[in-house]
Formats: sequence, structure tokens, C-alpha cells
Amino acid sequence: MRYFSSVNDLGSLQLALHEAIEIKNDRFKYVELGKNKTLLMVFFNSSLRTRLSTQKAAMNLGMNVIVLDVNQGAWKLETEHGVVMDGDKSEHLLEAIPVMGCYCDIIGVRSFAGLKDREYDYAETVFNQFVKYSGRPVFAMETATVHPLQAFADLITIEEHKEVKRPKVVLTWAPHPKALPQAVPNSFAEWMNAADVDFVVTHPEGYELDPRFVENAVVEYNQMKALSGADFVYAKNWSCPGVTSPANYGQVICKDMGWTIDEEHMSWTNDAHFMHCLPVRRNMIVTDNVIEGPRSLVIPEAANREISATVVLKRMLEDLK
Ligand code: CP
Repeated sequence: MRYFSSVNDLGSLQLALHEAIEIKNDRFKYVELGKNKTLLMVFFNSSLRTRLSTQKAAMNLGMNVIVLDVNQGAWKLETEHGVVMDGDKSEHLLEAIPVMGCYCDIIGVRSFAGLKDREYDYAETVFNQFVKYSGRPVFAMETATVHPLQAFADLITIEEHKEVKRPKVVLTWAPHPKALPQAVPNSFAEWMNAADVDFVVTHPEGYELDPRFVENAVVEYNQMKALSGADFVYAKNWSCPGVTSPANYGQVICKDMGWTIDEEHMSWTNDAHFMHCLPVRRNMIVTDNVIEGPRSLVIPEAANREISATVVLKRMLEDLK
């Protein structure tokens, strides 16, 4: 595997899930694979889980790891082409990327959406520059529009905890004080559409996700109806994707606390498991008693980030030339 940003990059999802279970049972099985190979993790944005779990995954495979926080200690990078660089940015990404490629074998990139220009964000401008100019295999550690390592970990978690063969999985929007990207819900939708689940998305009007990710999933604007009979409730905030209202792209257009997942919301479900990618704003997205309750899977999801990253890095190491 040369690049990883989509469920399609893995080939058979069933095989990838088997590989995940195999690695979970013996996470150092492939420790020789990464000997003398170096992973460079490039962060344009903050992280707790992605940073630790991906580093741990690389260590499981015997790799060396370099972490670059672009906004702390590195030159400020210009990402736009054709600008006169007379401001505070000292280096252009077009030189910085091939230089980074000189020091490593595989690159992971975290680069969030700016939420100002939908076309720029959805073109994955920064991630695709790494693909084009680094000369290395590149994987997404949450980019402008996708977070596949999270969605893969979420699917592993659902597989481990499902109590029926084909569970009902509901992705529900929930309120948040700040504008957040659509990367997590986009990837979650993409991966659930590829998985053996009944998938429903619920959100207030105006929050329609990009059709490329939501595909033919059921979209139900009535949250109570959507949650009825759910086996898994995946709560997440996202800002306006600008699909039905382009002028509102990246904005907070609803703060309705009636969407916060509390015990009453969970009572409409089939004793559902609660899921969230973390970090989470308590009592905005979900109440304390739900996230701390016995059906909450937020910690197992985070733990499975190590497994999804190990599978992805293993595949990339196997295909290194
Ligand atoms: N879920 C997730 O990607 O967490 P971090 O932003 O802390 O990496």
C-alpha cells in the first residue's frame, strides 16, 4: 500500500479486519518488518491519540520514529502556491516536503481543514502535496476531509462489541461551541457504508455531509426516529459542510442542546453502545453519565487506534521498494 486515506486503499475490508485481530492477539509479530525504517509523523495540528497510537504502532513494527510539530520549533510553512512570501512564513511546503522525504521511509500527515474555502479543503491540497512531492508512501493522520485511522479503529471496535450479525449504527450530530471539521464523520460514513451494518445518519438541516462519503446511507432528520433500535450510537459534532448551503461552509449554524446525547436519548436505542472518537466536550456532545456508563466504548476505540495504525504501517512496509 503506497497511500492511505480511504477504506478503498485497504482492498478487502474483511481481510483487513482479520489482520487487525491477528495483530491485536500478537502486536509484536511483525517487529522485524520495520528494522532500519523510519516513520516521520508531521503534525500541523494538535493531537493526543493519533500521536501516541501511531508512534506505538511504528514501535510494534520495529521502526524508528521522528515527530515534527510544524507549528512548534520548525520554520513557519507557506502552503499556497504563487504567493509573495513577505510575511511571517520562512519556507514553502514545496521545498520542505521533499526535504522531509530525504529523512524517512514513510510519512504520516495531520493537516486539518481551514474551514474557510470548501474547494481548497475538499481538494486535500496539503495532503496531496505530500503525496506528490515527498517521494514516500503517505498516510492520513486526519486531513482536511478524512480520518481513516479513526474510522478503521471504530469499525474494529464495532466488530468486537456487536451482539447481532448486522447491527444498526447511527452517526448523530451533537452540539459544540466551536466550528469543527467534517473529517471524522466523513470517514466514519465512508467506512460504515463499506461494512456489514445498517447505517443511519442524523443531523439538523444544513449539516448534510458530502455525498461522496454519505453515499446511499439513510439520512433521518428526526434524531429520536434515527436512534430508535440503534445498537451503536456514534456522536460527533461537525461544522456546516456547505453541501446544501455553500455560503455557510465551516460555520456553526446550530447549537441546539436537544441533540446532546443523554440517558433519555440512549433509552430510545436497543441498549446501544456509545461511541466518540475523543477528545469530547462533556455535557455538550454527551452527558457525564452516558460517557462514564457501562455501554460507553470511548476507551476501547482509542485503544484500537494502535491496532488500525499497525495494520496500515505493516501494509506500507510490506510494499516498500
Ligand atoms: N481521535 C483523535 O484523532 O484524537 P487526537 O486528535 O487526540 O489525535
